[in-house]
Amino acid sequence: MIPLRIEATNIGAVPHVDIDLSNINLASICGPNGVGKSTIFTIAPVFALFGETKNSCGMDNMVRLGTQEMDSTLEFEHRGEIYRVIRTRSTKGKGKTTLELQRLIEDPELSARKWDSLSGTTTWETEDKIKELLNLDAETFLASSMILQGKANEFTSKPAGQRKAILAQILGLEIYDRLLEKAKEKERAVNIELEKAKAKLSELDTRLVAKPAVESERAVCLDEISRIEAEIQSKESELRQARDRVRQLEIKQQRARELDRQIDTLWTEIEQKESEKSEHGDKLVRAQKILDSEAQILSKSNEHEQVKQRITVLQTKQPRLSELDIQERQIRGELVKIESQLTTTSQQVTKTETILACQSELEQAVNEFNLLGADIERLDKLAETFRIQELNAIQKKAAWEKKDTEIENRAKELNDQISGLKKKVEMLGNSGCINPENAQCRFLADAQDAKKKLPDLEKELASIDGSQIQPYWEEYQNAKRSVEELKYDPLQHKQSKERLNFLRPKVEQAAQLDSKQELLQNLKQQKSQAEEQKGQILDRIKGFQAERIKLVEELKPLTELEARLPKLAQWAQVKDQLPAARGMVAVTNETIAKLKTEIELKRKTAYQLGNEKNEIDRWVDNLPTELGGIADLEENLGTLRKELTDYSTRAGVIDAQLKSLEKDEEERRQIKDQIIPLAKDLVRWQTLVKAYGRDGIPALIIENAVPELERIANEILGQMSKGEHSLRFETQRDLKSRAGVKETLDIIVSDWIGDRPYETFSGGEQLRIDFAIRFALAELLARRAGSRVEWLTIDEGLGSQDAVHRGLVLEAIKSVADRFRKVLVITHIEEAQAVFEQQIYLEPGEDGVRVKLAA
Ligand SMILES: Nc1ncnc2c1ncn2[C@@H]1O[C@H](COP(=O)(O)OP(=O)(O)O)[C@@H](O)[C@H]1O
Ligand SMILES: [Mg+2]
Repeated sequence: MIPLRIEATNIGAVPHVDIDLSNINLASICGPNGVGKSTIFTIAPVFALFGETKNSCGMDNMVRLGTQEMDSTLEFEHRGEIYRVIRTRSTKGKGKTTLELQRLIEDPELSARKWDSLSGTTTWETEDKIKELLNLDAETFLASSMILQGKANEFTSKPAGQRKAILAQILGLEIYDRLLEKAKEKERAVNIELEKAKAKLSELDTRLVAKPAVESERAVCLDEISRIEAEIQSKESELRQARDRVRQLEIKQQRARELDRQIDTLWTEIEQKESEKSEHGDKLVRAQKILDSEAQILSKSNEHEQVKQRITVLQTKQPRLSELDIQERQIRGELVKIESQLTTTSQQVTKTETILACQSELEQAVNEFNLLGADIERLDKLAETFRIQELNAIQKKAAWEKKDTEIENRAKELNDQISGLKKKVEMLGNSGCINPENAQCRFLADAQDAKKKLPDLEKELASIDGSQIQPYWEEYQNAKRSVEELKYDPLQHKQSKERLNFLRPKVEQAAQLDSKQELLQNLKQQKSQAEEQKGQILDRIKGFQAERIKLVEELKPLTELEARLPKLAQWAQVKDQLPAARGMVAVTNETIAKLKTEIELKRKTAYQLGNEKNEIDRWVDNLPTELGGIADLEENLGTLRKELTDYSTRAGVIDAQLKSLEKDEEERRQIKDQIIPLAKDLVRWQTLVKAYGRDGIPALIIENAVPELERIANEILGQMSKGEHSLRFETQRDLKSRAGVKETLDIIVSDWIGDRPYETFSGGEQLRIDFAIRFALAELLARRAGSRVEWLTIDEGLGSQDAVHRGLVLEAIKSVADRFRKVLVITHIEEAQAVFEQQIYLEPGEDGVRVKLAA
């Protein structure tokens, strides 16, 4: 693998570089500190190939500050082909990586070259493809092609005890740890499988022990089944025969029942014929009897005719009786009406006669009524006057009484005022005032005022006497007198009115007297007419009654005749039957003879059928026995069939058991077949476990690698020290404390004085030894990787060398360069730079790093 071009953007401090390395063989890389030398030539290619950055500080920290995405492209030649890897890393969001692996191919269409993608579908897949292509991982690549700044002694500076482990790691021996783990896993798994198979085998063996017993049980079972089947067959044929017999018997039984029915029918018919015959006999007897009493029948029939005629005659008269009843009832109704009319008319006559008898009395009442009427008129007027006068007297009395009270009240009032004034005047006298008459105080002024008023009041009081009320009194007395002078008597007035009311009906009666005379005449005439009618009605009633008595007498025998009629009617009927009876006697005798013959014939048939039936019954008697036999056979068969089912079930179970055992046998065979390869497998894995173990292949590799490493390292160290130093590795050391050895990788360096451990040499000397070993390791690894990494980068490797030794180291580097196709030496030492034919200068520029190539 040889790098051809490095292009990088936004890695570390570097905004962008694109460096063509195709013509570089051995070059120094120069530039001020921090310009980006290490970044461009160590970090960028490792990042592109493996996605890792130096110090494993994390990819995202390498993205140039202020930007969010870096990328790195490495173009390289490998086994005659040109490839390139392009990786980008974005810190946006959760972060994102892209990776492309491409190969440069000829495009026949364009007759030019173009990049062909070899990437996988994911970044990991592409990374795996890169590792596969180079046959390298990041560690091996770093160990074989880069001596990083300050890490030249990465191997040598470790304690001797750890170096072997580091060497193993550098040699990629951890793969054996993984292989060992895998082999152990496999061994365990195979072992478990084997143990399982063994356990299964013994389980199957235990089960299979029972097989012979099951087989013999099966044979027994099958024997039993065939025995029972044979028995069933024989029983079934027996049963069929018995059933045939029963069927025959049942047919016979059927016939017997049929015969029974026929015999029954015959006997019923015979009975019917017998009863027919006896009926005919009875008829014959009856007809004979009728014929015997013919004379009596004829006389009774005659009598019946006569009675019937009499009844008819009487029955025609019967309706007249009820007719008479109805007529009598009607006429009696008329009688009642006439009688009531007569009563009313008589009463009216009496009343009218009474009225006419009081004629003079009524005339007198009329006179009195008229006189009284005039007097009452006068009294009514007087009563009106009296009422007015009396009202006037009452008013006058009230006026007089009112005046009297007024005057009395005024006198009392004056008396009160006077006595009040007198008291005030008296106080004036007692006041002690010198001149009370002219006193100015209000009190005395009031008293003086009272004194002045007093005489008027006393005068008014004196003037009050009877004269003021006298006129009122007189007016009242006059009014009273006029009332008395009227001499009106209310009692008399009332009695007169009552008498007048008493007389009023009499006056009315008197007014009617003329018409009453005429009425009386009419009434009397009506009365005599009604009496005449009544007499007529009574005569008619008497007629009806006489007719009725006669009729009843006539109808008396009817009931007796009617009672006799039905008995006589029977005789008349019998008389009708006489001719029939005569005809019948002849016919019936014939019929009876015919019936007798029929009955005889049927009897004979019935006996014959009875005989046949008895014959059959003797056969049918066997039926219960036969049926019993069938039931027994069926029961027998049932038991046998059940047994058969049981045995068949058992046989089924045994078959299933055998099948399962056969399956077990098959499984056992299979397991047996598996066990041998499994055992072989186990041995193989056990062997591998040993081989991958610490004392196996890794130990062998190290043991083989160490002398080669020694040889290459000594070649380079000899060059760098002008043959002064040589080294050797010691892989085991005797333990001082106890018997035994310790696994180690001591570096023993020899010079002209003698041998001593690496640790005892100076820094400069150690650096040369470091270089020698690192170069040797790089070469060894490159070789072992199968595909050499023909590229070596040494980053600031000259640190502590003095001028002489620096020259020697540089020489050594130059000589090592032959072993690699491209060697890049990063250094800031000017003197060192000049040693190399080609120089790459890096300078900080305005828009990034400027690259200059010098040769
Ligand atoms: N993510 C980053 N962004 C910007 N500058 C960075 C980042 N990481 C490292 N640097 C700077 O890059 C420079 C290191 O570059 P380097 O390649 O080691 O330089 P030199 O040329 O000395 O080998 C240092 O100045 C360091 O601070
Ligand atoms: Mg550097």
